[in-house]
Amino acid sequence: MSGPTTTGGAVTEGPAAERDAAPLLEVTDLRVRFTRGGRTVHAVNGLSYRLMAGRMLAIIGESGSGKSVSSRALMGLLPPTAQVSGSARFDGTELVGLSEREMRRRRGADIAMVFQDPARSLNPTMRIGAQITEAIRAHAAVDKDAAKARAIELLQLVKLPAPQQRFHEYPHQLSGGMRQRVMIAIALAGRPRLLIADEATTALDVTTQAQIMELLVELQQQLGMAVILISHDLALAASYADDVVVMYGGRAVERASADVLFSSVRMPYTRALLGAIPLLERPSHGELPVVPGQPPDPAALPSGCSFRPRCGSATDRCATPPPFAEHEPGHWWACWHPDGQQSAQEVRG
Ligand SMILES: Nc1ncnc2c1ncn2[C@@H]1O[C@H](COP(=O)(O)OP(=O)(O)O)[C@@H](O)[C@H]1O
Ligand SMILES: [Mg+2]
Repeated sequence: MSGPTTTGGAVTEGPAAERDAAPLLEVTDLRVRFTRGGRTVHAVNGLSYRLMAGRMLAIIGESGSGKSVSSRALMGLLPPTAQVSGSARFDGTELVGLSEREMRRRRGADIAMVFQDPARSLNPTMRIGAQITEAIRAHAAVDKDAAKARAIELLQLVKLPAPQQRFHEYPHQLSGGMRQRVMIAIALAGRPRLLIADEATTALDVTTQAQIMELLVELQQQLGMAVILISHDLALAASYADDVVVMYGGRAVERASADVLFSSVRMPYTRALLGAIPLLERPSHGELPVVPGQPPDPAALPSGCSFRPRCGSATDRCATPPPFAEHEPGHWWACWHPDGQQSAQEVRG
């Protein structure tokens, strides 16, 4: 377990429960930038969080806030134009700067990822079974029969109906939800200790979305696996995750357990996201309510707090970047003008 870490100028330390055990993943001041045609895109700008083994962490934020880039950085899945700095320790091993060879060995075995679009992630010309057994044999020296048995086991684990029969089918013969189950089975082939689900349910209808979320929670508990759930949907994520990190402009701006966050929203941006809870959750007026204004341009981030141009509480003070610090036990935020105690219930009113 490392000592206090310095984030954005403030000396900060994890909440009491986290001090007792070493985190499975500790991300500290992670930065990613891309240089493109003379412009520098600051995609991730000093992201810090911790994830304990077996927990589910939601990383939330609008499109472009750096959720995918920060997670792909952990797996060495960024293009060569990306410059990554800072630290991401997985079970004691530093992932930033790891050789491609070592990264390839660990990918899928330590950390595996499931993406939004299973139609594009699966090979349309290959049967489901062949794709899973290929993943199994990439991680373990097993013969064809053993790989098949394990594949069927994985398909049962992700609750794909009629796995024996589906094994021989092609992706187009499956529904969107079933394809996402197959993608999860492939991700589980290397027995990862961390599964990153990047908008894994976003393309699905509401009912299927809930079923896949429940499956992820079950797998987390059954396998003792940690899960990072990446989503733009704070309400969805917070109802399944243990902990929540809210990202804005490539940084964490609020972080707490889902319970604490929902009973006491502090950051005006988080409150705005809650106000943007769409459909079902609030009386529909047809249009999806969104946070007013534009997210920051990562090639031209405003000085100071990057939410300042959209924030109703902003003052001159916000020209100085607010430190991301643990202001209350287990509750971190980066804001000079946090809201008072206000529960999610009141916000949604
Ligand atoms: N390969 C790349 N080259 C340049 N910019 C990129 C690249 N990949 C992502 N970005 C930029 O990084 C920022 C963060 O992207 P991303 O992490 O995908 O956001 P999201 O939170 O929606 O997942 C965006 O502004 C995006 O345009
Ligand atoms: Mg993304």
